[in-house]
Amino acid sequence: MTSTSTPRAGATDAHDTAAGDGQEKLPQPRSFREVRGWFYNTDIVLFDWLLSRQDRLEQRGDLLEMGAYLGKSAIMLQSYLAPGETFTVCDLFGSAAPSASNEREMRGSYSTLTRRGFESNFLSFHDELPRVLHAPTSVVPAEVEAGSCRFVHVDASHLYEHVRPDIAAARTTLRPDGLVVLDDYRSSHTPGVACATWQAVLEDGLRPVCVSAQKFYGTWGDPAPVQDELHAALRERGDCWLQWQDVAGHRLLLVGADKAEIPQLPRSRHAKSRAGARDSEGDGARGGRGAALSALSRRTAREVLPPVISRHLSRVLRGARDR
Ligand SMILES: C[S@@+](CC[C@H](N)C(=O)[O-])C[C@H]1O[C@@H](n2cnc3c(N)ncnc32)[C@H](O)[C@@H]1O
Repeated sequence: MTSTSTPRAGATDAHDTAAGDGQEKLPQPRSFREVRGWFYNTDIVLFDWLLSRQDRLEQRGDLLEMGAYLGKSAIMLQSYLAPGETFTVCDLFGSAAPSASNEREMRGSYSTLTRRGFESNFLSFHDELPRVLHAPTSVVPAEVEAGSCRFVHVDASHLYEHVRPDIAAARTTLRPDGLVVLDDYRSSHTPGVACATWQAVLEDGLRPVCVSAQKFYGTWGDPAPVQDELHAALRERGDCWLQWQDVAGHRLLLVGADKAEIPQLPRSRHAKSRAGARDSEGDGARGGRGAALSALSRRTAREVLPPVISRHLSRVLRGARDR
């Protein structure tokens, strides 16, 4: 059932044929906000900070996402890929699930998902697709080289019997100082993720870095340096809620950034400027490595301009970004 495809160019082709081929109406989101999925402010802030830190420290390695759905978090992850690195996504994309309970989960939550929908969304923001494993996540250990990844997002099945091996696969594929992110580790409808997450902490050496309302961030390396830097950076921003807690002897940072200023999000090639013309900035790679510079200019503006002007500038930038 595994079908693997390597990245291909083809933004133009994909969009010329995206609509009106009579089979399926493919999405052409004009902004990141329009991509359907589950990826909220606090996690946007945390992904950006953690992936930018890896870039700053030149911690090189591949990226992996188990569970891409229509590409929301994948679109963001791709923006942080450095030259020579590979981004792999693994998803069933509507194909038969490996167990009856997984099949029920798929029909209930992701019934309209198709691989073409994912690809259409993704190519609205980037020129090339990631490496796609169109298969159950059980193929990951055989398909992704051990120790090759610096960042793994586990967001596929939310059932215990799948999440537990997915966490084990994350451990195998990560480099020693790599980061794993576990989605829905505490939602009322996903007790299996909660169990698998804390079991990995208590039995398998996973060490918490921080948690948002939706996601658990951890490492099998030493969490202290990244935790301390993250805490200092978010405290300095002044727009995040932070709290240290100790859980069964593990220190973790609780983060809330619902109202925080978010980094520049990847731009869609379908974004229009106010005048209605195609936006010249819509090159599909505005988040991530490119956006680090914009974030820096915003920060510099905040520091050198009178508050009233920098606030106005922020609003203008945010308005331009969200159009
Ligand atoms: C919660 S969604 C992913 C959301 C996505 N990361 C986002 O940001 O919008 C879960 C995805 O996992 C996929 N999935 C569920 N069970 C799976 C399995 N056993 N193997 C691979 N993918 C699976 C579903 O098809 C669905 O696309």
